[in-house]
Amino acid sequence: MKRYAALFALIAAVSGPASAAGDADSGKDIAIKYCARCHVIGAYNKFGGIGSTPSFNLLLGLQDGMERFESFYERRPHPVFVRVPDVPKWGDSPAYASEFTVTRQNLDDILAFVLTLEKKDLKRVPVVGGVGPNARQRIMGATE
Ligand code: HEC
Repeated sequence: MKRYAALFALIAAVSGPASAAGDADSGKDIAIKYCARCHVIGAYNKFGGIGSTPSFNLLLGLQDGMERFESFYERRPHPVFVRVPDVPKWGDSPAYASEFTVTRQNLDDILAFVLTLEKKDLKRVPVVGGVGPNARQRIMGATE
């Protein structure tokens, strides 16, 4: 029995406290409030967001998509306007978009919501003309 207790303790240590698990509904509310003004976050605003900003569906379809979501607050452009408790600011430049704070629990909720979305395969996104690199070239470094 003692052996099992040690095993459970190990599982608990590895998987973290139960409260760390995200809540997808809450994650959707957070994404609507804070992310949807720039990103398409799935069916909620399929034709919304800002054109040059990758959709959540596209990011999820990338091989390291979830990794990018987990650390989004330290990936440009977010450090300028996203605050995370205990994470120091990158610099003192004033934010150019309204600032918001994301807690660890908020982030877990966002991750749970993202996992409910349909993945988009970047290779199947049509290349629309125009000057300069398109999203596919920028993300994958393609030279076509
Ligand atoms: C003010 C606009 C804005 C807001 C608000 C915003 N983002 Fe972004 N986000 C961007 C832009 C622009 C990019 C693309 C950056 C690039 O191409 O270099 C991006 C990229 C990303 C990426 C990919 C980063 C990478 O390096 O691959 C993730 C993940 C992401 N955003 C998540 C989020 C989440 C989650 C929220 C809400 C909590 C959010 N963003 C809110 C503008 C925004």
